[in-house]
Amino acid sequence: MRFSFALSALGLTSQVPLQPSLPESSTMTTAQKSFQFVEGPDVFTPKDLVELGRTGAGVANQAGDFVLIPYSKFSFEEKKNHKNIYVAPLESSVQPFKLPLTEGGEAFWLNGRTLAYVLESEQKTLEIFALDLLYEPATNESVGVLSSKPPVLLGTFPTTSASNFRYSTDGYLVFSDSVYPDGNLTTVKEQDEAWENRGNTALVYDHTYERHWDHWVGPKTQSLFSVRLVQDPDHKWTFGSEFVNLLAGTEHSSPVEPFGGTDDFDVSKQSVIYTTLDPAFKDERAWHTKQNVYIVGITGGKPRELTSGSQGATHNPVLNHVGDKAAWLELDEDGYESDRAKIVIYDLKKNVRFTLTQKWDRSPGSLVFSKEGEFIYFTAGDHAKVKVFVLPIPSTPEKSTTDPQLSPKYLSPVPIVKDSASSGLQSLPYGRILISKSSFTSPNDVYLVKGLDALQTQITQSDESVKFSGEVEQVTNFTASDLEGKNLSKGEEFWFKGADDIDVQGWILKPKGWKKGETKAFPVVLLIHGGPQGAWEDQWSTRWNPNVFAQQGYFTVAINPTGSTSFGQAFTDAIAGDWGGKPFVDLQKGWKYILESYPEIDSDRAVAAGASWGGYAINWIQGHPEYNFGFKALVCHDGVFDSSYNGFSTEELFFFNHDWRGRPWDKDSEQVLRKFNPVNFVHKWGTPQLVIHGSKDYRLPETDGIGAFHALQQLHIPSRLVIFPNENHWVLNHGNSLKWHYEVFRWFDQFVGKKD
Ligand SMILES: *[C@@H]1O[C@H](CO)[C@@H](O)[C@H](O)[C@H]1NC(C)=O
Ligand SMILES: *[C@@H]1O[C@H](CO)[C@@H](O)[C@H](O)[C@H]1NC(C)=O
Ligand SMILES: *[C@@H]1O[C@H](CO)[C@@H](O)[C@H](O)[C@H]1NC(C)=O
Ligand SMILES: *[C@@H]1O[C@H](CO)[C@@H](O)[C@H](O)[C@H]1NC(C)=O
Repeated sequence: MRFSFALSALGLTSQVPLQPSLPESSTMTTAQKSFQFVEGPDVFTPKDLVELGRTGAGVANQAGDFVLIPYSKFSFEEKKNHKNIYVAPLESSVQPFKLPLTEGGEAFWLNGRTLAYVLESEQKTLEIFALDLLYEPATNESVGVLSSKPPVLLGTFPTTSASNFRYSTDGYLVFSDSVYPDGNLTTVKEQDEAWENRGNTALVYDHTYERHWDHWVGPKTQSLFSVRLVQDPDHKWTFGSEFVNLLAGTEHSSPVEPFGGTDDFDVSKQSVIYTTLDPAFKDERAWHTKQNVYIVGITGGKPRELTSGSQGATHNPVLNHVGDKAAWLELDEDGYESDRAKIVIYDLKKNVRFTLTQKWDRSPGSLVFSKEGEFIYFTAGDHAKVKVFVLPIPSTPEKSTTDPQLSPKYLSPVPIVKDSASSGLQSLPYGRILISKSSFTSPNDVYLVKGLDALQTQITQSDESVKFSGEVEQVTNFTASDLEGKNLSKGEEFWFKGADDIDVQGWILKPKGWKKGETKAFPVVLLIHGGPQGAWEDQWSTRWNPNVFAQQGYFTVAINPTGSTSFGQAFTDAIAGDWGGKPFVDLQKGWKYILESYPEIDSDRAVAAGASWGGYAINWIQGHPEYNFGFKALVCHDGVFDSSYNGFSTEELFFFNHDWRGRPWDKDSEQVLRKFNPVNFVHKWGTPQLVIHGSKDYRLPETDGIGAFHALQQLHIPSRLVIFPNENHWVLNHGNSLKWHYEVFRWFDQFVGKKD
């Protein structure tokens, strides 16, 4: 943490003088008061948000009767983030059991009752332990008890950076680690030392990426490894010493940086499937998105490509349980990251590949085979929710095809979980899947979906459309007590006619203390999401949480304008080349609709905030006073100021090239830039603006924030710059997150707070 809690709660007011040129006005008087959050036992404050426990995705064992649950909770008092792993029996009321281990490691299942646990020791080596669970189920006389035997050390890894563990029941552990060009895990430590002691700190590049997301790219790349991890007949576990680089001799790198993890590969008994950037573009990574899928033996060999070669990005490759079919998500267009993802199935026996969701206008986000392999479960955004769907897998066609002839039951995914936002699918025996789910009112929890056997039978036997009638049962409940009595808003949907009379959706959250009919009683904030190919979904966020704004007393409006995902591909695609166009027609119309519909809103106390594309939107609105939003203050977090410069300075160049119709110097792009670059309209700026930027934001370098601040200052517009030197495109550090909220709400309060 950069600042102590006390300092960060006070803000930097004493260190950063307010603008001496500010006119004497009521706003000035308000600014001089020291700002405090709205607090109280019934208020969910920013501090509560930061300190609320965070439940990770559950991982069940093969038998599907126990689940591992990562859980972390930050404490300002201790200045410590407690990271623990719990185990809970599924379908039992026995309390989750906290593993008796040092905080902060990674765990995975070895078998039904044994876990492996990987943790860095005090001697700075990465150790692997086995831990046997002990379980006494509940009886009529006693409650059930879960405990464990003491952990047993199995061995150490050659590095401390091994991660993303997946265990194959055939006795191999597959994981990722980063290696030097020799690809050899056992030489990494030595080469790390040589690199650290090279006598200078220069980084030299002949090709992109030179930096990515929040770090400068070094000499190492990600690769996948396998090592023997097997139980002897006398139940003793043995950890091998030979680490096989499964991608040796290729130009492949998986998981794919910067966000790839266990979703980028999967293991069956014999094989490992993975996605990697197309090696043909190894020197042009920054402007290509094409990723190929390969399969390789679990002990190595020559990887075999499964993709056709004409795809764009691929994600989430998976193998079915018996290992004779693979599936992944595939996009069509190289150089775009938001075209429609489709499910592709690959029959490994027949060597035939076919697309399953060619005709479905939604974009699946993750997928998994059912345990028996006859169905595929997947998540997809749909009208600002992330739902779980299922499709039966048709028999494999004769030849590979992207558009197979399919009867209706294979074309219409059946929704299973329709509310809020699901993720982290895992299929379990007996017609069940495990998911994580969150909403505006509750952070992620683990849920068990039951009764899918009956649904699958119905789908198989009927040609009519079928409905899921099973149960969705909550497994974890770590945070409920902390949220009790806070009365968080569920969010209400609204629809209005946007640009070209297309139906556009948004959310509104009423403020704490809202009473019907109290006219002009509450300030209002418009939140603008990033992407722009993203959406405000009925989902929990630890960064931009609409309820935190509502709890501070603001009517909170979150609109999904043109470019947003989950409303069909045409709506998402329509923002390309039109950043300053249709989305702002949508936002103006939605804003008008809200002001007309809620007399409780005081439109003289309106503010807006956005990050990334949302920050572009703030800078764009600054330059377009004729939109008449009437905002009294703006907040721009990591936003685009100069789009042309951004087309050169961002690391993922494909993104600009796609959305601005070419490179910054291309004719088409130049025209779009002339129309839609915020810097071209700075002369019209006039609204007080807070600018926030992270110095490790390499997607949108901090000079965009600094540039906007310099413009505001020279125009004598009340403005403030907040820099987080150690944050990337997101503010993740707990203390910084609280400071972020402090500065944002303090800024709003200065201009639209109650004058008393
Ligand atoms: C436990 O209680 C149930 C219902 O009260 C009863 O049917 C069952 O026989 C009891 N089991 C034992 C082992 O006592
Ligand atoms: C990796 O390096 C070690 C130590 O230099 C060496 O013994 C081993 O043979 C190398 N492995 C491979 C696969 O080259
Ligand atoms: C979660 O805990 C809260 C109280 O802390 C309780 O009211 C609620 O019923 C629990 N929900 C589940 C699904 O266990
Ligand atoms: C909770 O919020 C709703 C909607 O804002 C409001 O109608 C209700 O009175 C609130 N309940 C409590 C107990 O504050």
